[in-house]
Amino acid sequence: MQTMREFIPYNLEKYFFLFFTLSFCSLVSTNEDAETFFNQPKPIYAKPNDLLGWIDGRNIESLNGEWRYIVDPLRNGLPGESFFSDFPTNKLPQSEYELVEYDFANAPTINVPGDWNSQKENLFFYQGGVWYYKEFVYNKAQDEAVHLYFEGSNFSTKVFLNGKSIGGFDAGYTSFDFEVTDAIKDGPNYLMVFVDAALHSNSVPTQKTDWWLYGGLVGDVLLVRLPQAHILNAQIQLNKVNPKIIDIHIIGNELLAGESITLSIPDLEIKKDYSLNDDAEARDQIPFTGKYWDIGSPKLYKVILESKDESIEESIGFRTIATKDSEIYLNNKPIKLKGISSHAEPIGTEGFAFSKEHFKNILAEVSKLGGNFLRAAHYPYSRHLAKEADKLGILLWEEIPVYWNINWQNQQTFEIASQQLSRMISRDWNRASVAIWSVGNETPYSESRMKFLTGLIDTARDLDDSRLVSAALLGGSAKDFQNLILAIASLGLESDIPTPREKLVLKSLTENFNLQNNSSKGLTISLDDPIGLHLDIVALNEYFGWYYSVFLAPQIQISEKTFRLLMLELLPEIRINNVFSKPIHLSEFGAGAKYGKSGEGIWTESYQAMVYEAQIAMIKNNQDTIQGYSPWILKDFRSMMRPLAGIQDYYNRKGLMDENGNKKEAYYYLQKFYETGQ
Ligand code: GCU
Repeated sequence: MQTMREFIPYNLEKYFFLFFTLSFCSLVSTNEDAETFFNQPKPIYAKPNDLLGWIDGRNIESLNGEWRYIVDPLRNGLPGESFFSDFPTNKLPQSEYELVEYDFANAPTINVPGDWNSQKENLFFYQGGVWYYKEFVYNKAQDEAVHLYFEGSNFSTKVFLNGKSIGGFDAGYTSFDFEVTDAIKDGPNYLMVFVDAALHSNSVPTQKTDWWLYGGLVGDVLLVRLPQAHILNAQIQLNKVNPKIIDIHIIGNELLAGESITLSIPDLEIKKDYSLNDDAEARDQIPFTGKYWDIGSPKLYKVILESKDESIEESIGFRTIATKDSEIYLNNKPIKLKGISSHAEPIGTEGFAFSKEHFKNILAEVSKLGGNFLRAAHYPYSRHLAKEADKLGILLWEEIPVYWNINWQNQQTFEIASQQLSRMISRDWNRASVAIWSVGNETPYSESRMKFLTGLIDTARDLDDSRLVSAALLGGSAKDFQNLILAIASLGLESDIPTPREKLVLKSLTENFNLQNNSSKGLTISLDDPIGLHLDIVALNEYFGWYYSVFLAPQIQISEKTFRLLMLELLPEIRINNVFSKPIHLSEFGAGAKYGKSGEGIWTESYQAMVYEAQIAMIKNNQDTIQGYSPWILKDFRSMMRPLAGIQDYYNRKGLMDENGNKKEAYYYLQKFYETGQ
């Protein structure tokens, strides 16, 4: 390789050097210019509008398929990030002498929707920025509006169409759309989307999660043709307290104010005109005389909304979901939520789930288990999940990723969580299958957490008072763990599991707490997290059979093996109630097992099965307070927290089946319980 000196004859080189120095100086002649050169002004990105609803009932053109991509870890291509590259201009060198350091037209390809981690081996752990590029031809009509809709993009997104900045959105897993009427051209267009998967202490979730933070355009990308004055969204749901009434709420964009909208439900012979008010909204209540949507008989009705310029439609089921004392009622009948938890991962293939097929397969497994409920942890899934669950008659728990300890005091953090919640609700508020909105998972108590969560709960109830609100709470207060240790000690004294030395330890422990050896067996856990006051259902993540032994056994100087085996004996005797006298849902319990591993100890299928056997016995002994269960978890799932070679290999192994759908022994214990009650 020639050096610069060899390449340019000496006398020419000195002029080149002089030219370069002058041109560089002309760019940064003063300190201020030096500042500007290295600190370009960062553009402000427009925020998306309120979510456009009823997407599948509209005039859409899909941009799914093969896109080009450029990995950009330094975010170098963003306007203002660097003097030498502003990718959205999509510059093409006009001669061999023009310096352009990117080329989308010849960049490698990637599928959209889909995460990059599972599509590109060299991006498996990648959590940085990637540019997506798509050329498309558009047939632009007069007097129409065009929106660009994203089903989900992880985690912050900046959109450029034909070089024009369209906007930015910083909430992962959540649907959003921008109006692109002015930027889209009749004929060829090029769309660039910069997706940055980086998370931080103010994001939702933070960068600490026990699931794979799949990056990329992880949901459909659609163009939506609309009249300029159009219906934005509408909630058409059965009234929560009067199952003979349908509540109607129609929302137009501002140009639709004062216009007339016709609502039709042909199979119910309903056809009614509304005149939108100055806020382009209409609210009403109309009689419901049809068949309820129910588990096993998921009746859906076609609902049509028409203005003078458009007609949109949805399939909607009508049902009520409510709580009464400590029970859950579906269509005024008490129900047990016999469920399972999931992550949005397809069964049998790597990566993030995004298609109808993916969710049909996950929901089919709920039915095969004899279940009626899926906890879609820990973030909003694609709209396809709830649409498929509507058709199958399976109830859903939908959740935003307010996970573990986020930055409760940060306003931007609250904004992101509020955006995720309000968009999840306004997208799925017509889905009969969605029974529960969850505002968080295992969040530690603090005053700022209470303020943050009650703010979210208020948002959920303001947007949709027809569903239940919950949150999966951390099990085990210090008092609970002390009582657990004492219960284990009492049990251990009567058992032949502890060694003689351990018996002495347990004996002195019970004497110190002057517990009689024959103290009542069992343990009562009374859930009292103050957030329970604001929830409809108090949900508990408990791991009696898995985690508690790890840190409690050393505290009382007995082996983890002894603690685990005593725990399995104690589990069925545990009583669970809550100080709020509300329904309890066991949102998580379980244990890890490597498919095919037999023999002694944890990680074996038999140990996981013993945990399920003991947990099911406990549920049967708590039928009066525990109204639902979604064990953790349907399928082994990817997690960067689970590296144990030969066992985990970056999978969390608490699945009832492995990543390929191979069922473990515990699967059949849960299936038998759901199918026979035994
Ligand atoms: C927690 C958490 C899950 C996690 C699970 C586990 O309860 O909610 O996200 O994967 O436990 O430790 O496996």
